[in-house]
Amino acid sequence: MERELALEIVRVTELGALASARWIGRGDKHAADDAATAAIRSMFDSVSINGTVVIGEGEMDDAPMLYIGEQVGNADGPLVDVAVDPLEGTEVVASGLDNAQSVIAIADKGNLLHAPDIYMEKLACGPELAGKLHIEDPVEVTLQKASHFSGKSLSELTVMVLDRERHSDLIARLRAAGVRIKLLGHGDVAGAIAAALPDNEVDLYMGSGGAPEGVLAAAALKCLGGEMQGKLLPEGPFEMQRCLLMGIENPMGVLTMDDMVGTGDVIFAATGVTSGEFLSGVRFLGKDRAETHSVIMRAQSRTIRYIRSIHFLPGKRIPGRSADKQIAAM
Ligand code: FBP
Repeated sequence: MERELALEIVRVTELGALASARWIGRGDKHAADDAATAAIRSMFDSVSINGTVVIGEGEMDDAPMLYIGEQVGNADGPLVDVAVDPLEGTEVVASGLDNAQSVIAIADKGNLLHAPDIYMEKLACGPELAGKLHIEDPVEVTLQKASHFSGKSLSELTVMVLDRERHSDLIARLRAAGVRIKLLGHGDVAGAIAAALPDNEVDLYMGSGGAPEGVLAAAALKCLGGEMQGKLLPEGPFEMQRCLLMGIENPMGVLTMDDMVGTGDVIFAATGVTSGEFLSGVRFLGKDRAETHSVIMRAQSRTIRYIRSIHFLPGKRIPGRSADKQIAAM
């Protein structure tokens, strides 16, 4: 993959963020997601890739756009797998809360895991702890190892966890161990990334969230030199069958970085829709401008670029689909 591709990809997430930002606080998560999906889909046509969506908005039958298997890009470029979450944090946008992003990861064809839309247990960390932890260790052992290898005492460690009832036992054990917990409302791609950012206080990300989001986060962590381990949590025979159909031979096994994002190059881009752990959200400026904040990373160089863009949005500014089309036409 050419490095210039990274800049093409970030233009796509910028557009997704701008489109969904129209729906911040309007109580309609589907409209927010649809707006981001339509904008991203239209923008992909100009990107120089021969891409196949492996993580997207669902199956061909129930997703009109960015369905798994859909071909994206102008076909004038490398054969790549595409993982896309046009709006990571649909509820967040609907409720006007923090931590929503538009996210895309790209890797050479055959490298990204085809993750079913089920839960995955996740353990993420930064470069200092990469290769030193194991998702099947008891929480207390993981914390001891993290403390040992980072040189921090337990009370200096910060663990990020999605604030969910299903995590009550995990949270109780973390508290008993004396670490600091940062609870996250939604958006665990950003949560997992926070554990590997050089300028962030979060040391570990733990707990379960969406499996597709796990692969997206693993892509970012690879670019950051961090690590994500996952374990799919299929509930019942139907979800188990889905895993097998998607080519996962051992659905109960530990998923390593290589399983999730392969061994080649990866590009990861995200644009903030609402402000979060490391990106500010979209700000509409006056009548015809908007500001976006994005991050773009590439595994091969491990460069992290933050891009602040001011977009010119000419024409009428009416919230709704007509405005989304206007943004998509930019
Ligand atoms: P959506 O964008 O699909 O709303 O996902 C938001 C999210 O918070 C993800 O980041 C996370 O992986 C998942 O939901 C967790 O699921 P749940 O809300 O069921 O715990």
